[in-house]
Amino acid sequence: MAVLVTGGAGYIGSHTCVELLEKDYEIVVIDNFSNSQPESLKRVSEITGKIFPVIEVDLRNREDVEDIFKQFNIQAVIHFAALKAVGESVTKSLLYYQNNLISLLNILDVMDQYSVQQIVFSSSATVYGDNGRSPLKEETHTGAVNPYGQTKLMAEKILEDLSASNREWKSVILRYFNPVGAHESGKIGEDPGGVPNNLMPYLSQVAVGQRTHLSVFGCDYPTKDGTGVRDYIHIMDLAAGHVKALQFLENNEGCHTFNLGTGKGYSVLEMIHVFQQVTGIPIPYQIVDRRAGDIAECFANPKKAEKHLEWKAVRTLSDMCRDTWRWQSSNPFGYHPQSKMKTKKASGA
Ligand SMILES: NC(=O)c1ccc[n+]([C@@H]2O[C@H](COP(=O)([O-])OP(=O)(O)OC[C@H]3O[C@@H](n4cnc5c(N)ncnc54)[C@H](O)[C@@H]3O)[C@@H](O)[C@H]2O)c1
Repeated sequence: MAVLVTGGAGYIGSHTCVELLEKDYEIVVIDNFSNSQPESLKRVSEITGKIFPVIEVDLRNREDVEDIFKQFNIQAVIHFAALKAVGESVTKSLLYYQNNLISLLNILDVMDQYSVQQIVFSSSATVYGDNGRSPLKEETHTGAVNPYGQTKLMAEKILEDLSASNREWKSVILRYFNPVGAHESGKIGEDPGGVPNNLMPYLSQVAVGQRTHLSVFGCDYPTKDGTGVRDYIHIMDLAAGHVKALQFLENNEGCHTFNLGTGKGYSVLEMIHVFQQVTGIPIPYQIVDRRAGDIAECFANPKKAEKHLEWKAVRTLSDMCRDTWRWQSSNPFGYHPQSKMKTKKASGA
């Protein structure tokens, strides 16, 4: 019996594969590599000393998804596969609705056909939009403000309706806050294509010399130092949450939603400060105008996950910075072949 991991070559998927293998789960990974490299999964094998099937499948093709269920004895699914760039979802909304929703509908339909009715779904804190006041609880009113967030809200609704219509269906919806960091080996980590949208990969690319400086979007938010506050969670804590979710599914009917965050908010300036302290590398930054769509503050109330999943984030902000830097400095160009671009000498890892 194996756990099917969709989108397992991606950032969160690859780290979760490590956690699953180390907890002795058998896994099968499918991915279309639209935003990842097969190399990440080779490294998962290097870290764990285990091999597992990796199959190139686009979840939009139902027949290809069904072939996987014919071939393997699947017991549950962790569904990571999705497109996730908020800005791109505004300009390519149809692509986002097609990719994220058709993929979900196909996997659910095939699972139903094969009586595999346990799924862990990757949702996001983005579903809260700018409605609630942090700390955000699961019951806080939702309201996505972009097509990406809408796909997550719609997917959540589909899963809720499915469990309501058939008690055999069990699902866990995980609303991630801001995953950062890397596996402590430094072999796998976040490898964004093009210009990173998120603070941590941008910061580490500045540190490694690929970018000249960091832009801090806005210093006039009503927060502790005027810059945006987010709930950063170490990727390995997040990965551990998926194993807990699988265990929870074994004993609990219905559809359950959990925040996965630390419950602590850190500002952009605090992040820069801790990163500099941990790595010893100065980060040049410039304060610029606010970025459209950003909110002042977003952090979780993670109590529900602590109580029902028996899960808690344990790694610190220093761990997150140290592990990000270990990954970035030993893989300045991610999983891509060495580029000729010069990098600063890595230190502090
Ligand atoms: N990283 C974050 O900050 C964050 C925050 C909240 C939620 N999420 C969600 O978590 C999940 C994983 O995110 P991630 O950061 O690992 O992203 P990622 O892009 O690194 O991984 C997603 C993977 O899915 C694959 N994929 C996409 N569409 C596919 C399709 N049609 N068929 C097969 N494979 C497909 C991609 O190639 C990629 O390997 C996504 O659903 C994302 O929306 C991510």
